[in-house]
Formats: sequence, C-alpha cells, structure tokens
Amino acid sequence: SNKKTIQTLRAQYEARIPITMVTAYDYPTALHVEWAGADVVLVGDSLGMVVLGHRTTQAVTMEHMIHHSSAARRAVKNALLVADVPFGSYETSSVAGAESAIRLIKEAGVDAVKLEGGVTRAGVISRIVDSGIAVMGHVGLMPQAVSREGAFRATGRTAETAINVIKDARAVRDAGAFSIVLECVPERVAALVRDAVDVPVIGIGSGASCDGQVLVYHDMLGILSHPQHAKAAPKFSKVFGNVGPLIDVAIRDYCREVKERRFPSAQYSPYKISNEEYEKLQ
Ligand code: KIV
Ligand code: NA
Repeated sequence: SNKKTIQTLRAQYEARIPITMVTAYDYPTALHVEWAGADVVLVGDSLGMVVLGHRTTQAVTMEHMIHHSSAARRAVKNALLVADVPFGSYETSSVAGAESAIRLIKEAGVDAVKLEGGVTRAGVISRIVDSGIAVMGHVGLMPQAVSREGAFRATGRTAETAINVIKDARAVRDAGAFSIVLECVPERVAALVRDAVDVPVIGIGSGASCDGQVLVYHDMLGILSHPQHAKAAPKFSKVFGNVGPLIDVAIRDYCREVKERRFPSAQYSPYKISNEEYEKLQ
C-alpha cells in the first residue's frame, strides 16, 4: 500500500528521499494534494491567513482546526495528515497541550500534530508524545510568536540566533518529535540543524539542505496574487501554477456571459418538458 506512516517517513528519510508536504484546509484542496502524491498533508494554522483572511495566525482556534482538519480527513487516504495545534491551546501547560492534541486526534481524526517552539516547548511535546500522539516540531521563524517578534522575520542570521535555532531543534528532537519544520533560516544554518538532529527536517524558506520541503497551497498556486490583495506570496514560495489569475478570468467571463445573455446557452439548459405536458399549461 501507499499509506504513509511515521515509520514509512522514517524509512524514506534514511533512504535520503526528500519528504514532500503541502498545506490543505478543506476537502477539495486536500484531495488535490493527496492525488498529487504528497507524503504529508498539513492542515496549517496558516488557514487563519489564507482562508479566513486574518493578518496573523493568532486568531485560529481549536474549533477552526477541528472543523478544517475534519474536512481534510475525508479526502486524505494515503498521505500522513498533520494538524497544527493553534496559538493559545498549548502554551499555558503540558496538560493543556496534551488535551488539545488529543482533541485533534479524537474529533478530527488526524494522524499527528505539529506545534511551534523549541527549548521552551520540550515539556509539552514530551507530554503529548507520552499520551501516544506523534508530534512534528516547528522551529526557526515561529509565526505564532509575532506579538513578541514584531513581524514575520527570518531568523538564524547571526551566530547567536543560529545557535538558538539549533538548540531548539535538539530540544524538540529529544522531547520525542518525529520530524521538525524549519522555517526561514539561511540554507547553511539549515544544514547545521539537519546535521544536529536524527529526524527529518522539513524546510520552508530554508534552502535545499533539508530532508523535505513544505509550501502553503495558496502561495504555490498564486491564489492570493490578485492585484487588489495587499500581501503577495512570500519571496521563498515559488508559484508552481498561477491558478489565481485563471480563477479571476473564469469568474469575470461568467459574469460577462450572464450580462450578455450568452449563458446559459441551450447546452446548459438540459431539463425538458414534453409537448403534451406543456400544452396542459396553456
Ligand atoms: O501553518 C502552516 O502552514 C505551517 C507551514 C508553513 C509549515 O506551519
Ligand atoms: Na503553522
């Protein structure tokens, strides 16, 4: 079977086959990611930004994560389905974190959870792993900490911050994480992180030396690239298919055809009444 598990990802890592991960937040997006054969589908809390229109991920709740992860669950058969533990649902205690992770497993049926943080989150990670749940770490740029950091900014660009990223990755690994997302650090620092841990490091905006890559669905598909939209995709996110402009054109064409009474043509007016029935109406 093609079913991905923590164990098959481990084998893939040992065979040095890059791990592919893409975000999805609902049934159709998750189906597309699954059909494309990605190893991991991530219901990221980026959904707060690319789906709900918030400026950060801070507003995302457990209810949002369960709602969206449940929809993705109905689509994903073979990929590993991972959900983010949202801001505010794991920082106050290891018990709070374990309760949130357990809810994502029980109520959304995901295969594993991901949470942000390094040294300071080792306790909650090991508590969740102890409860029987696979945890993916997330270090480097940690978007949920935007209040403290002031902006979404790359990190590890000084020796001091690079050492902190490496310490964070080690702490997350030692706490029992099966894999670690590494966001927005220089490629040479990413290589040091990869060498510092013996679990797959999945990069985003961190160069080619990672054991896998992840991108946000809307960014890689140019979906929020409309000129009226303030924030374009981040500069590290290649647009693999510029779907956004196709959507704009399609909807504009539809509106024009309706206004010009060209849609629906006979082809799209399929329901017929017989002459006999119609005559009874006269
Ligand atoms: O929320 C998200 O989409 C993520 C990925 C960018 C790793 O955490
Ligand atoms: Na996230």
